Amino acid sequence: MKVIMRIVSICLAASTLLAASVYAADEHDADLIERIKAVGEVCAAGSDCASVNTAASSGGSADAGAAARSGSDIAAKHCAMCHGNPGIPGAPRTPEEWQARVDAKGLDGIVATAISGINAMPPKGMCMDCTDAEMKAAVEALIQ
Ligand code: HEC
Repeated sequence: MKVIMRIVSICLAASTLLAASVYAADEHDADLIERIKAVGEVCAAGSDCASVNTAASSGGSADAGAAARSGSDIAAKHCAMCHGNPGIPGAPRTPEEWQARVDAKGLDGIVATAISGINAMPPKGMCMDCTDAEMKAAVEALIQ
């Protein structure tokens, strides 16, 4: 009987400790949720979510998605096959080759040719859904 009582009291002590740590975890989670909350909230259609800006998520999503691509993303995906290493002969690749092009036409000049295409360079480097601003960002990423 004595042994059983001891086991019971050990269990009680253990569960008290456990409860305390769960409580601490809850507090911690609440802090964490508060800190990351601004990143995103889900609002199901039809529910009343006053704090969620539904206008931003409806319509124009293609533009919003496109704007999220950085110049280096585009350069890596669409331009590096020719302007990267090894690339193709004739495509500027080194900082010196890029500098010579910038000196000859200026940044806006080479962005314009990149959009229209030149010799072995297809229009927009075949990134047909790239906007002009994205092409400029991609050129800036390439010439760095
Ligand atoms: C299929 C190969 C190929 C791809 C893909 C390609 N380029 Fe080019 N690019 C070239 C070649 C070749 C030249 C040099 C053309 C010449 O001057 O004869 C060139 C030249 C350029 C120039 C210099 C233009 C000038 O007026 O001197 C820029 C800027 C440029 N590319 C940007 C890009 C960007 C940005 C991308 C990706 C969105 C890209 N290129 C994708 C082959 C490519």
